[in-house]
Amino acid sequence: MTDEDLPYGPVSKSLSYLKFLSRAGNAHSIHSPQVFALYNLLRCAPPKEVRNAIELLRKQNLRDKRVLQYPDPGKDLQVVENSIRHMAKSFVKKPVVGKLLYQTVRFFEPSKILELGTSLGISAAWQHYANPSAEFISVEGVKAIADEAAKNLSGLGLKTQVECSLFNDWLHLAKSENPEFNYVYLDGHHKKLPTLKYFESVKSLISKNAVVVLDDIHWSKGMESAWQEIIADRDVAISIDLFHIGILIFREGVTKQHFTLFA
Ligand SMILES: C[S@@+](CC[C@H](N)C(=O)[O-])C[C@H]1O[C@@H](n2cnc3c(N)ncnc32)[C@H](O)[C@@H]1O
Repeated sequence: MTDEDLPYGPVSKSLSYLKFLSRAGNAHSIHSPQVFALYNLLRCAPPKEVRNAIELLRKQNLRDKRVLQYPDPGKDLQVVENSIRHMAKSFVKKPVVGKLLYQTVRFFEPSKILELGTSLGISAAWQHYANPSAEFISVEGVKAIADEAAKNLSGLGLKTQVECSLFNDWLHLAKSENPEFNYVYLDGHHKKLPTLKYFESVKSLISKNAVVVLDDIHWSKGMESAWQEIIADRDVAISIDLFHIGILIFREGVTKQHFTLFA
């Protein structure tokens, strides 16, 4: 791991957030009707029954003291030990981000969704609830964690397909099937070079008007730099920095635009 891949500590994180706030606009700064409509939806709370079901699951996981031992794909397969409660506390999306994911899926109504980084299935639940009829594949590199996620998601009544594989292997195999996902969410292995590589691979698996969402774009210097390179990609028409996540909209023939928004 290079220095720029080290996660920001509390001070650097606060500075990064202050920098974000100083650039962030609101509804008045948006001239694109599509982004304006998306922004307004992002500010709305998801339905109460969705919030309650996912929060109940997250809280059950927060009380679960079972410990899993596994080779961590985000740490070059070094063997680590983590309790379910630690994963639920430290790795999975809190409701503030869940809301953004839910409303993004609701807005674009993608029929074919790919998530890289399942963990316990909480972010998959937010997104799949927003469009339960969508085909939804979520990829997780640790078998024991993938099994927990599959149990959690089927317990919520969602037909999410949880696949156990390393991202690179899965992306490589998927290429030959030309799957044409119209929505992809990347949330694992938050390092600059792997993120840029996954983004390149994902580009060959998506449809023309797809949406790609990147998590933790302000996690480290490396992730901020990866985000800057990605938004400069000529196939990305609209990019939106929401601090916790970044949204990339692929559209042909649309002038490139970037937004930094506090939602
Ligand atoms: C931050 S967690 C995902 C959290 C989840 N999206 C949520 O919010 O509920 C990242 C997950 O990705 C998995 N992961 C990281 N790098 C991976 C890789 N290269 N291949 C497969 N899985 C990986 C980790 O095991 C971990 O469970």
